[in-house]
Amino acid sequence: SNYALILAGGSGTRFWPLSRNSQPKQLLDLFGDGTLLEQTIARLEGLVPHENIFILTNAIQEEKTREVASMLPAENIFAEPAKRDTAPAVALGIGLIAARDPEATMMVLPADQLIQDTAAYQQVMRDAVEVAGKTDALVTVGIKPTWACPSYGYIERGGKATLTDCTVENAPYEVTCFREKPDSELAEKFLAAGNFAWNAGMFIWSVPTVLAQLEKHAPELRHFVQELCQSNDLPATVNAQFPDLTPISIDYALMENAERVLNIEATFDWDDVGSWISVAKYLKQQGNNNATNSDLALIDSENNIVFNNQKGIKVALLGVDDLIVVQTDDALLVANRHQADAIKKLSALLPDEL
Ligand code: GDD
Ligand code: MG
Repeated sequence: SNYALILAGGSGTRFWPLSRNSQPKQLLDLFGDGTLLEQTIARLEGLVPHENIFILTNAIQEEKTREVASMLPAENIFAEPAKRDTAPAVALGIGLIAARDPEATMMVLPADQLIQDTAAYQQVMRDAVEVAGKTDALVTVGIKPTWACPSYGYIERGGKATLTDCTVENAPYEVTCFREKPDSELAEKFLAAGNFAWNAGMFIWSVPTVLAQLEKHAPELRHFVQELCQSNDLPATVNAQFPDLTPISIDYALMENAERVLNIEATFDWDDVGSWISVAKYLKQQGNNNATNSDLALIDSENNIVFNNQKGIKVALLGVDDLIVVQTDDALLVANRHQADAIKKLSALLPDEL
């Protein structure tokens, strides 16, 4: 049967001061329609039963993650004993799922993306699951790239795959190259070439297929999964072995090297909402290109982003442009919007407790 593994253990630095390590992007309700993690779970309604949805997080985020994911069985939420990036997390998830069903087909999903067209998303995931169940491929989802963003993976597409006895709506492409986070110059070239997609960060595969690929390209992780499957005290095995795993993301550890990768076109909207700049387009617009979640007083001010979660505080702007202003209960950020990428450097300024 089908399983989903939601990766929800990323750190919270880019949305400082709203995000903290204990409250990263996936645990924020940026737009008043629930946290991104909550939306990730809700998108699986009708596609994967709750008992087959697993969430991996870390100790500092565990409590809030459990609150948000209270509809899932408590034993499906697991806190990693150390932060080791996504490859070890994925291996742990494969172990948890393989222990239930060694033939399972599973989707690995990020918890920090904004996707609104659930029907289109579910159709793509259904196709991906069918393809993954019937081939020995690792299946990815491709987003049409709009600029040379260096913080995504790039997927080079060859021709459409020929698949026997698959009835998918959108035939996937054969992938000729998977390249994680190229520098901007290389990303420009990929974009100009025209046959590259952004990696959506979602991976769909059958347990036997991914284990065979780990065996070849990441034997340390294959070994760890095996230890999990043979363990009669899984938490003890995780605590003993997980912290020793090499920190690396699944994109570098497996996807760049895997034998057969397929790519299905995303027919849904997709946004990785990576910074305050990308949040701005979902907020209310006020005056001359100002974006806000509150009601501003504005004179002669443009291109500002104001996020204020304090009902009792009124924000007024006079003669200022290009600012990011974020008001929380314990901090006020005033930043130049052209330096949004450096906001993560400020995250050490406040203690983690909210
Ligand atoms: N459990 C767990 N443990 N989850 C983690 C960890 C960890 O140590 N580190 C990150 N995550 C979670 C994040 O919360 C997020 O939901 C997901 O795993 C992906 O990790 P990111 O750190 O956000 O990856 P990225 O955005 O830099 O890159 C990935 O996603 C891009 C699309 O958004 C890659 O797959 C890229 O190729 C892809 O383009
Ligand atoms: Mg991300």
